Amino acid sequence: MVSRVIPVDPFDLVVFGATGDLANRKILPGLYRRFFAGQIPEGARIIGAARTEMDTAAFRAHARAAIDEHVGAGKRDAAQIEAFLGILEYVPIDAMGEGGWTTLKALVRPQLINAFYFSVAPALFGPLAERLHAFGIAAAEARIVVEKPFGRDLASAKALNATLAEHFDETQIYRIDHYLGKETVQNLMAVRFANILFEPLWNAQFVDHVQITVAETVGVGGRGSYYDKSGAMRDMVQNHLMQLLCLIAMEPPYHFDPDAVRDEKLKVIRALQPVLAADIVRGQYLAHRSDDGKGHQPGYLEDAENPDSRTESYIALRVHVANWRWKGTPFYLRTGKRLRARTSEIAITFKEPPHSIFDEADETWRENVLVIRLQPNEGMNLKMMIKEPGPGGMRLVQVPLDMSFAEALGEDGADIPDAYERLIMDVIRGNQTLFMRGDEVEAAWAWTDPIIEGWTARGDRPQGYDAGSSGPEDALMLMHRDGRRWREIRE
Ligand code: BG6
Repeated sequence: MVSRVIPVDPFDLVVFGATGDLANRKILPGLYRRFFAGQIPEGARIIGAARTEMDTAAFRAHARAAIDEHVGAGKRDAAQIEAFLGILEYVPIDAMGEGGWTTLKALVRPQLINAFYFSVAPALFGPLAERLHAFGIAAAEARIVVEKPFGRDLASAKALNATLAEHFDETQIYRIDHYLGKETVQNLMAVRFANILFEPLWNAQFVDHVQITVAETVGVGGRGSYYDKSGAMRDMVQNHLMQLLCLIAMEPPYHFDPDAVRDEKLKVIRALQPVLAADIVRGQYLAHRSDDGKGHQPGYLEDAENPDSRTESYIALRVHVANWRWKGTPFYLRTGKRLRARTSEIAITFKEPPHSIFDEADETWRENVLVIRLQPNEGMNLKMMIKEPGPGGMRLVQVPLDMSFAEALGEDGADIPDAYERLIMDVIRGNQTLFMRGDEVEAAWAWTDPIIEGWTARGDRPQGYDAGSSGPEDALMLMHRDGRRWREIRE
């Protein structure tokens, strides 16, 4: 299969916060990889802007270090890196003041596509938007890109939307949820809407339940005091897991078009029922001491630098989508830090056949499960019943129809671009399909707020769980009491 690179038109991309962590880990290495793939056209320019005083040469050295650290050796080509660094510029800028803005204006060419990436704290979104206008830098068609967290509740999200709306139209605003840039997440739409096989079964009549798992092995050390103000519900569920849920539960859009897709996702979010206290389990990972007693891995409270913290590093929820398609099918969501393995997947468990014609089926029968693996080893797996080979009667056995994208698609499948690469190129192309619309974000907070307010008012404490486990005991019960089981967390 030949890798296809769809060229984009020349652009000026300004990255505010260009010396920050996200720019280092994702944005600059991602742009380099697109350059290496031949997707960045002649004449394009990437302009770093940040508070740090430095010149373009120093910024290029900084970008080179980011590439060395975060780009695989196979793509680190000395000549290509040199050429890429040649399209970088740097402007020291004062986001809250006047410094640097006229220099920036002189660099940004209004006749090209202009995109401004706000890789900065949300408190700076307003001042940046204001100055881009005041200094006449943002052309009428200019695009702005904003990162999560987009607010910490409905009121703050509304305020952010209102601030941006003062200077930019909704069609110019690209709110990033990097999960939407993951290859397999988009594949969810292809699997559902480009195949006739699944759609007739994709409803409460045939689907017993859905499990969405995003498990991580990392803790929050290093960003603990930030994370402690957020927690897994705000950090992961309100955005990433919510988006996954939407793609699974939504109706077919009339076209693969930004507003058609986002309209359908919005309907799902609005159909989410309030979550009962009994359907929520929160946890915090505990400190871990190695068997010899020497090694100590801090627990959440230590990482968060807050011994009294009630913030969750793990959450499991049973969620209902109250509409005709899904009435009666629970969606179980869970995500957490310091779990057994880093794995993200969606599992759709189908109901049992209405009648069994096989005598032994009662003992051997297992449900059909469609598993969509988001990471690692992106792919799909459909568990099916077949006859166990050999003589001796009709014995049934469950086998996986397994497809790893890396194997099925050869080189292309093994070389899947990072979510950020794809999303930045979509900004340049002007395609908003994989970005969240303002009303979507607000609806997600409207559902989230009462859940958080509920446990705050009740004074609930998260349950401790062992580092390297599958999460708190109570999360198992959330499933067991419904006669179901979580899938094992493993790579
Ligand atoms: C971020 C969260 O949005 O997503 C992090 O703030 C989390 O806490 C990360 O670790 C997970 O992303 P990925 O792509 O590694 O699954």
